[in-house]
Formats: sequence, structure tokens, C-alpha cells
Amino acid sequence: MKKVIAIYPGSFDPPTNGHLDLVERGSRIFDELVVAILRNPEKDPLFSLGERRHMLEDLTSGFKNVRVDTFDGLMVDYAAKLNATAVLRGIRALSDYEYELQMALMNRKLLPDLETVFMMPAEQYSYLSSRLVREVARLGGAIDGLVPELVEQRLREKLDPAIKLQNARVKQQSRKSKTGKHA
Ligand code: PNS
Repeated sequence: MKKVIAIYPGSFDPPTNGHLDLVERGSRIFDELVVAILRNPEKDPLFSLGERRHMLEDLTSGFKNVRVDTFDGLMVDYAAKLNATAVLRGIRALSDYEYELQMALMNRKLLPDLETVFMMPAEQYSYLSSRLVREVARLGGAIDGLVPELVEQRLREKLDPAIKLQNARVKQQSRKSKTGKHA
């Protein structure tokens, strides 16, 4: 039987528990799921493409049929290149619907054979978005339970220069001790 390959496109800046919830649901119904990060030089993301890719690879390493990739240009062209027949998107509330419907119908016009599949994340993530996570973290609010621990740690490092400096020092020390050099 033909394998059903789906892509799960997005910005993932940063990945949230809502995204992971959807990855888990998608991995159960598709043979192969490709989490596809948009390479968009116009946007000014908090996390670089490489950082997002590493985080997502780490967070999805437990799923055998999930892999992470990046793409640019039209999503439908990327989907065709992979022989994907489905696009996975999450719908949280009614407010998502209009934008998602517009996008799904435009994608259908561009590539009629590509089916958009909407899934709902667990209720506790229905208000969660990467934008809100970035904002709350930036202003010092608690984001535990909303993003995986790894992402929480990376956000803290990114937004707190003191932690960044401390980490850089620890890395430098360990490099020096490996090469036998002392400060
Ligand atoms: O997580 P996001 O930012 O809501 O994801 C939006 C994304 C990446 C799925 C959408 O912007 C996209 O597919 N961009 C690629 C360019 C494209 O195909 N545009 C036409 C969409 S109808």
C-alpha cells in the first residue's frame, strides 16, 4: 500500500507543547510526518533556523516516523517534491479558522491533490501560541507547562544575558580543560 506522507509546516518560533501535541497526533495517523520549518528571511525570528531545527529534532527524536526539515518558497512545491499528499495544521479556536481556511483553499487551488488535515491540540493548549510564549517569556512571566523544558531553557538563555554569559564561560572552561590549557 502507498505510504501517506504528510508535512506539518510552520514557523515554530519557538516550538510549544501545542506543536508537540499535534506532532504526536499526526504521527499516529500518517505513515511519515515531516515537520517543515519555513525559511523566511523577511521575518525576524527570535530563534535562528538552526536553533529551531535542533530543538525540534531533539523534541521529536522519540517518534520513529517523524523527521524535521526546512523549506522556502511555496509550501505546495515543497510538498510535491516530497510526494506528500497531506498537510497537517492545528486549529485551536474559531479565530484560527478563517486564516487556516483561506490558506487551505489557496493551497488546494495550487495543488488540488494535496489535502489539508486540521487537528485540534489538547484543550489545555487551546490558547497557546509561539507569539504569546515569546511575549510572556520576554516580560518575565512563567511559561512552565506551555513549552518543553528544553525550549524553556533556551528561552531563558536567549532572553537573559547573564545566563548566556555564564553558559559561554562554562563552555570555554570545558574546552580549555579538554585541550589542557588553563586560564
Ligand atoms: O506557523 P505559521 O507561521 O502560522 O505557518 C505558516 C506557514 C509556514 C504554514 C505558511 O506561511 C506557509 O505555508 N508559507 C509558505 C509560503 C506559501 O506557500 N504561501 C502560500 C500559502 S496559501
